[in-house]
Amino acid sequence: MFYNTHTHLNAEELYDDRKEIIQDCLDHNVTRMTVVGYDVPSSKLAVSIAHEYDFIYATVGISPNDVDGFKEEDLQVIEDLSHDEKVCAIGEIGLDYHYDCPKDVQRHVFEEQLKLAEREHKPIVIHCRDAYEETYQTLSKYDVKGIMHCYSGSDQMALRFIKLGYYISLAGPVTFKNAKMPKQVAKNIPLDRLLIETDDPYMAPEPIRGTRNVPVNCIYIAKKIAELKEIPLEDVEKATFQNALNIFHLD
Ligand code: NI
Repeated sequence: MFYNTHTHLNAEELYDDRKEIIQDCLDHNVTRMTVVGYDVPSSKLAVSIAHEYDFIYATVGISPNDVDGFKEEDLQVIEDLSHDEKVCAIGEIGLDYHYDCPKDVQRHVFEEQLKLAEREHKPIVIHCRDAYEETYQTLSKYDVKGIMHCYSGSDQMALRFIKLGYYISLAGPVTFKNAKMPKQVAKNIPLDRLLIETDDPYMAPEPIRGTRNVPVNCIYIAKKIAELKEIPLEDVEKATFQNALNIFHLD
């Protein structure tokens, strides 16, 4: 059984087809999923999808790419949603200096949600791009644990996040021919700290790169990790499933 820790069935590219997409997952042994919110509407939708299926969980949060038009009262909505029984984490939250969103707003929204996670004893899902050192320094200040989602930093940096209590989640890039760092991470990071995800609807893995990405494709990520570590797929399947249950505090 595979656990896909990061899908966006709440995105408009997938939402209307979710029934068939989810059935396809079950047909291929992808039996658990976490639908990740990135703003207020997508967080609400993640919670509603999680209530349609008992094996689907939700996260709620405001991502650094979605702080345009941010209002302080949005944080209260996220906090209220976080009390739902199907919400297993706060996220995706973090820092993204690749795009042009104002850094001061990103930092404010990130830290307010870290405080929320600390108060509510919830794990977090981190989105980080071109901001690894600052993200690390910020996370060090809070008593929280979580997931470095779609991790694309170095293996050395990954080990520092692991020491802080974080898991490293790999997505499509680990299968891309030109992506060296995620492959190094897959090889060198212990299996008991790795997770698999798709971050759909974009970034479909090889060999179906360029197509609409769907959650069942997390199996390609597991296969690539098994190949790089030179271990059976079943070992990756079991470990990443258990790791996901551990970090999301699920049975
Ligand atoms: Ni995402």
